[in-house]
Amino acid sequence: MAPTREADPHVSRTSRGLGLELVRQLARSPTNRVIAACRNSDRATALHSLTSGAKGDLHVLELDVGDPASIRDSVKTVEHILGDSGLDYLYNNAGVNAKIDDAFGLDCGDFMKALEINVAAPALLAQAYLPLIEKSQRKVIVNVSSRYGSVSLDRGPTWPVYSITKSALNMLTYKQAKARPDLIVISLAPGWVKTDMGGPNAALEPHQSVEDQLRIVTGLTPQDSGKFFNHTGEVYPY
Ligand SMILES: NC(=O)c1ccc[n+]([C@@H]2O[C@H](COP(=O)([O-])OP(=O)(O)OC[C@H]3O[C@@H](n4cnc5c(N)ncnc54)[C@H](OP(=O)(O)O)[C@@H]3O)[C@@H](O)[C@H]2O)c1
Repeated sequence: MAPTREADPHVSRTSRGLGLELVRQLARSPTNRVIAACRNSDRATALHSLTSGAKGDLHVLELDVGDPASIRDSVKTVEHILGDSGLDYLYNNAGVNAKIDDAFGLDCGDFMKALEINVAAPALLAQAYLPLIEKSQRKVIVNVSSRYGSVSLDRGPTWPVYSITKSALNMLTYKQAKARPDLIVISLAPGWVKTDMGGPNAALEPHQSVEDQLRIVTGLTPQDSGKFFNHTGEVYPY
């Protein structure tokens, strides 16, 4: 992923929005090996269209992060692609919002789905990919979070389900970092970005957020592990 390193292998979830832009930017570098995961490969036309112009080594992989069997199967495919190399960056970008989001009117199905995709999936992915991460010198896990995941930043009553899941994701980051000091695990808030999730009035274009994200992620040191960054590099309180 870092242009200065040789063939940095990288897995992310990427059919649209920030994931797609991540792949677009990463695939520009001939030194990057990018493994882009998407839920439905047949429908991921924008993602497939990047393969022809990629200067780096770009692989597209089918992965439904809500399905533990799909996670397990993806590891075998990635292992095959990497050969003897380890996985330098696991970028847990996939996320969902809840359709009904009211602190006193939760829809149970929505709530469980958001917990599954925003919290359980990054946890299971890190678990499943740990042996490949351990083989790398870089060993970075990025959990894509949100300002809404911080209690201290006070986002008011808006989006409780989403906020609860991102708070839980931040706690996952903290626990992973404490459990494994040899890894670099961070939470990263991408800013308010014009995607399907962020909407058309958001402050940032996807390319701006991703340029910022990559600057932070490629510059991480072991001292950064366990921290919650925003896209400008500011450390947010949990
Ligand atoms: N945009 C913002 O303003 C903003 C702000 C703060 C945080 N974030 C976070 O940034 C991340 C990316 O957001 P975004 O704005 O790019 O959202 P988005 O445009 O809604 O895209 C969501 C992505 O997640 C994927 N995904 C959802 N469920 C999946 C599953 N079960 N398996 C595999 N992939 C799945 C989607 O794939 P499909 O195409 O298959 O549905 C899509 O690629 C999320 O974690 C989000 O919470 C975004």
